[in-house]
This record gives sequence, C-alpha cells and structure tokens, in this order.
Amino acid sequence: MKILAILYSGGSAAEEEKRLLGTTENQLGIRDWLESQGHELIVSDDKEGPGSIFQQHILDAEVLITTPFHPGYLTRDLVEKSKNLKICVTAGVGSDHIDLNACVEKGIEVLEVTGSNVVSVAEHVVMSILLLVRNFVPAHEMIERGDWQVSDIARNAFDLEGKVVGTIGCGRIGYRVLQRLQPFNCKELLYYDYADLPADASKAVNARRVADLKDLVSQCDVITVNCPLHEGTRNLVNAELLKHFKKGAWLVNTARGAICDKDAVAAALKAGQINGYAGDVWNVQPSPKDHPWRTMKNPLGGGNGMVPHYSGTTLDAQARYAAGVKSILENYFTGKPQEPANIIIGKGKYATKAYGQR
Ligand code: NAI
Repeated sequence: MKILAILYSGGSAAEEEKRLLGTTENQLGIRDWLESQGHELIVSDDKEGPGSIFQQHILDAEVLITTPFHPGYLTRDLVEKSKNLKICVTAGVGSDHIDLNACVEKGIEVLEVTGSNVVSVAEHVVMSILLLVRNFVPAHEMIERGDWQVSDIARNAFDLEGKVVGTIGCGRIGYRVLQRLQPFNCKELLYYDYADLPADASKAVNARRVADLKDLVSQCDVITVNCPLHEGTRNLVNAELLKHFKKGAWLVNTARGAICDKDAVAAALKAGQINGYAGDVWNVQPSPKDHPWRTMKNPLGGGNGMVPHYSGTTLDAQARYAAGVKSILENYFTGKPQEPANIIIGKGKYATKAYGQR
C-alpha cells in the first residue's frame, strides 16, 4: 500500500532531538513498522505546485497523512485527481486544509487524532492572554535593548483579574481554556457556540453562553477563538465584527488564521480598536515574510504576540499524535472500527458537528 506523508522539515533540530516525531526526518516513528508490513512510505515537506512531491504522489497514494503545522492543501482538484485515495489522517487536530466536502462526495474518510494536543493549545492560549494583558513582549524587548523605562510598559499593563473573557467555540480546547482561567478570578467567563455545554460542565467553570456573536464580543475584554475553520467560520472576525469589540480588547486566535481577516485585524490593532492580537496560526503556512501579522503593533508599539504554528506541537503533543496516527493506521489495515471521536468524515458523510451545522 502506498502511504504519503506531508510533514514539516525539522533540519538539524530533528537530527538532534528524536522526539520531534512530526518531522520529515523522524517520520512519526512509523517507517520501520510500515515497511516491515510491506507498505511503501513517501515522506516530504514539498507541498506546493503541480511538480511537488505532494501533488505527484497523491495521484496514486491510498493513505495521506498531513499535519496542520505544515499543511498539505488537499484541494477539490487534487481529491478528484487522486485515483486510489481512501483515507486522510491528520497528525494533530484540525483538518480544514482538506476539502472535506469533496472527500464526502468521493467517499474518502478523514480522521484526526482528536484530543491529542488540546491541553497544549489551551496552555498556549492562557499564556497568550496573559502576555497581552500584562504587556509582556514590549517589556522583554526593552530589556534586550538595554533600556529601562518602567512607565512605558506599565501604562498599558493590566491584571487579568476582574476582566471578562469569552471564547468563540467551546469544545475541547475552548472548555480547557475556561477551566485553566478559574484561579484568575475573572469577572465573567462567556462562550459562543451552537452546541450548549452540558449543564454540569458549564456550572463547573461558571460560564454563561451568549447566543449572539456581536453581543458576546461587545461584552468581552478578552476574546479567544477556539472553533474549527469551515464555511461558517472563515473570516468570522472581520472589520464589521471588530467594530463591535470593546475598544482596547485583546484577541487571541490559536484556532486557524483564516477565521480572522488579516487586514482587518492589522488595521484594528494599528488604530487601537484592539489592544493586542496573539496566536500561532496564519491564513497561509508558512506565512510570507511580509505578512502584516508578523510586525503589526498597537499605537504604543506593543500588542503583538504572534509566533509560528507550534502551540499544538510540543514534544508531549507529538508523542500523542504520532501514537494516534499509528493506531488509526493499524485499525485501517486490520479493518477494526476507528475511535468514533477521531472520525471527521466517515463513509460518505460528516461524523462530527464541529465543522459546521448541516
Ligand atoms: P472541538 O471539535 O472539540 O471543538 C470545536 C467547537 O467549536 C465545537 O464545540 C463546535 O460546536 C464549535 N464551533 C464550530 N463552529 C462554530 C461556530 N460557527 N461558532 C461557534 N462555535 C463553533 O475541537 P477542538 O479540539 O477544541 O479544536 C478546535 C480547533 O482548534 C481545531 O479545529 C483546530 O483548528 C484548532 N487547533 C489548533 C492547534 C494549534 O496548534 N494551534 C492544535 C489543535 C487544534
């Protein structure tokens, strides 16, 4: 069986650190196992354009493994050209880089390693909220420059205590963020999701659901985005919605870059409509060198907490999603049922509500 894996190149870091399992060098730790069963494994980071390894080998691969950190974009066109493709496995969580509707139509299954990195991301969200609210990045940059001017930082530094925090999407990650915010004594925790939290779960974190998105953002000091990218969430945070944010609110997005309009966010930050933006996800990955989110700033020269896409690929997360990919493949080879929570597209239909209400 031909298996194609599009992963990110780890360079010398991956040679030195074998726990970087999600790289082209360490190949999720599955090469020997696959080859011992007679399967062919092609691994590459070369994913763009018709001449790329991805676009050549997708034509006859039966299994495609991709990672959200260096997404191999499986477009409708490629789905149609892929003659043998039966199953796509996302090494991680978030399969928006795959044309899911095209996979439904063609009977291709799509699976993720659900839950594998949700704690990793939730921790990153809480860290990002704190670094924006407390104005951490400019403070650190000042120290590196050799300067010391406390008031330049303190004039835009606040406590998280007493603030209203809201999450757009309250699934595994969104809920874990609310759990991790408990000791900070926020004024209120809010969520916007078409799925209600079970009563005991919302009581446990003392969170209130807000049914209207404009209503949610207008009440929040901090907004965190934790829903998947799909037709209903692409560009959800756009110029119009940003007008309804509280002036000076902070926005954290570790879900997917394309959920927020890049130019509208950069303009809102520059104008001070929002005081900060942080996250690790970009509308195209790797992001171009001139992407506005790399350098955008608020009027005081701070408010940017952007990093490359890594929140869900800590070494702990890589161990979990590599093991999860192996288990999904094992089930596929032996015909065993897959874990229901891992199935995004089952046989010809969506198996989850997370990618939009249908
Ligand atoms: P989940 O499936 O447990 O939760 C997603 C929630 O979003 C669900 O409750 C769903 O009802 C809600 N939702 C969907 N559409 C919505 C909409 N239009 N408005 C409001 N809520 C909506 O997924 P999980 O595990 O919490 O992951 C969420 C997303 O986080 C992933 O799809 C992925 O895009 C991103 N992610 C990012 C990572 C990173 O490294 N930055 C790593 C893992 C996930």
